[in-house]
Amino acid sequence: MSYNIAIDGPAGAGKSTIAKQVAKNLDFIYVDTGAMYRAIALYLLRNHVEAEEDEKISHFAKSVNVELSYINGEQQVILNGENVSGFIRTEEVGKMASIAAKNKDVRIQLLDLQRNLAKKENVIMDGRDIGTHVLPDADLKIYLTASSGVRANRRYKELQNKGIECCIEEIERDIIARDKQDMERKIAPLKQAEDALLLDSSDMTIEEVVNKITVLFHENCK
Ligand code: DC
Repeated sequence: MSYNIAIDGPAGAGKSTIAKQVAKNLDFIYVDTGAMYRAIALYLLRNHVEAEEDEKISHFAKSVNVELSYINGEQQVILNGENVSGFIRTEEVGKMASIAAKNKDVRIQLLDLQRNLAKKENVIMDGRDIGTHVLPDADLKIYLTASSGVRANRRYKELQNKGIECCIEEIERDIIARDKQDMERKIAPLKQAEDALLLDSSDMTIEEVVNKITVLFHENCK
């Protein structure tokens, strides 16, 4: 039997940074489902599919092959046999991922892969619909959020550290638009599962959130 932890929440709440560290603490496998949507988005962009071409998105979703592999414990995303992990972290791909994620065939394509991983291994999986849809029986569910201002500020600092010029107001506008798109879509929208614990990280450090989730797991699941 395997243990499953689900972490959902809006863009920029720190899900992946935190889930990665909790996975290390507990010796679990970390599964970043957003990376799978990003890989499909990259495939669509490479094939010049536009946001409003829903039928084309379905067509490409039905033929795409997305897999995960791990190198030194780091998740790699394989798109039709190619490791695309280095190409999926751009704003362009993130925006297209949120659009592609509204499409039924895209979601069907990824659901089995996500569920099968969780069946075999102890996983901590992050995304938008993990607690509500992908792993409704997860042993621990966390809804991790932070105010849009805090999330924008974190993203702004990250980009500045990379030497990328950016405007904080624009980042916050994009974050709010992405939240709206992910929360208002018809299929498996982002929302807190009824049995998920709400963690607002606005005034917490990464370490505090990681410790909190690790303790919650030990208290509730073992
Ligand atoms: O977490 P992220 O920024 O890498 O996710 C990119 C997009 O993928 C996100 O805006 C919505 C979509 N997504 C989803 O619909 N369901 C998931 N479980 C994970 C991501």
